[in-house]
Amino acid sequence: MTPLRAGVIGLGVGKSHAEGYRLSPHSTLAAFCDTNEERLREFAQKYDVPPEACYTDYHTMLANANLDIVSVCLPNALHAPASIAALEAGVHVLCEKPLATNTAEAQAMIDAARRSGKHLLVCYNYRFRADSQWLYNMIHKGALGTIYHIYASWRRETGIPGWGLFGDKAMSGGGALIDLGVHVLDLALWLMDFPAVKTVSGEVRTVFAPQKRKMWRQPNVEPAAFEVEDGAVGFLRLANGANMFLQATWGEHTLPNEDRIRVEVQGSEGTAILDIANYRREETLRLYTESEGEPVVISPVVRWTAPAYSHVGLVLDTVEKIANGETPTTDGTQGLVDVQVLDAMYASAQAGREVFLD
Ligand SMILES: NC(=O)c1ccc[n+]([C@@H]2O[C@H](COP(=O)([O-])OP(=O)(O)OC[C@H]3O[C@@H](n4cnc5c(N)ncnc54)[C@H](O)[C@@H]3O)[C@@H](O)[C@H]2O)c1
Repeated sequence: MTPLRAGVIGLGVGKSHAEGYRLSPHSTLAAFCDTNEERLREFAQKYDVPPEACYTDYHTMLANANLDIVSVCLPNALHAPASIAALEAGVHVLCEKPLATNTAEAQAMIDAARRSGKHLLVCYNYRFRADSQWLYNMIHKGALGTIYHIYASWRRETGIPGWGLFGDKAMSGGGALIDLGVHVLDLALWLMDFPAVKTVSGEVRTVFAPQKRKMWRQPNVEPAAFEVEDGAVGFLRLANGANMFLQATWGEHTLPNEDRIRVEVQGSEGTAILDIANYRREETLRLYTESEGEPVVISPVVRWTAPAYSHVGLVLDTVEKIANGETPTTDGTQGLVDVQVLDAMYASAQAGREVFLD
């Protein structure tokens, strides 16, 4: 079969998408787009993409590059217009997270995908870590019994992005919650096969960014430009009877440089903890259960057959599934659910009360 012609729009994290398309036997890296011409040149050279396949305007790229799939790796507010343009041009879309800055945009993307008959996928790369997959399989084999609670968090000690448009409310839709929280919210819902979310309570805070504290890398963004939260907490009631505590922080006082994803799943037969500190791959899992009434602690050894970098794993899986006529796993409809929950968390924080979802 002819490999899919792949393009990448936005060459920040877009680099890891490019890496996946380059490595897959099911795709060729056919075009790049970025408004930053220097970045465009640098990437074109590195990935051997000819100058005539490099664009500064994604509309021109979609009209000329004859693509089968495109990764949209732009600031959040551009996810919807670029993805809809690509779908209307008959191109599958792998969009970075969050799917969009709000529910209306996300819904418009889903509608465009339905009209085009093309896939709209979200880049939930953490599902593709070997330890996340191990946890998913254990839960689906019933090892934890009936799940009644999930704690999901991504917390950074010094992680307020000091570059790009992350602090710009209109361009990003929010701060730590929409940036980091969306990943762990997705992991938690995915582990339970997306039960409906019934109610959401949220609270946000902005403590460090206005004082230019806990900024990641040398900041080139003025604190005054920060209009979004640098931390958030939430509580969700789910239709499967379980509940979830969700937390996301770009900055807090904890171990220096700590950058930690933690998903704790509690069930009638066991508790499993996925605890990824600073992206490590070793010893990220613990299983607490009982044997003949006595407590047992298990440290699973995961055979890490998945690619080391989860973005690459996601891209490889996505293009292989599309090439084989299968549906890739990170469907846009799940991205829509996550955005609806985040919208409800922001609405709850603003109103100071619980929000009910349809
Ligand atoms: N899945 C993950 O783990 C992960 C990690 C990082 C970022 N992201 C997501 O990826 C997206 C981009 O984040 P980033 O960190 O790469 O940001 P970035 O600012 O580093 O890169 C964005 C790139 O887009 C380019 N760009 C901006 N407007 C453009 C336009 N109209 N046309 C073409 N190019 C344009 C910029 O020049 C820049 O090179 C965000 O949605 C972010 O949430 C996801």
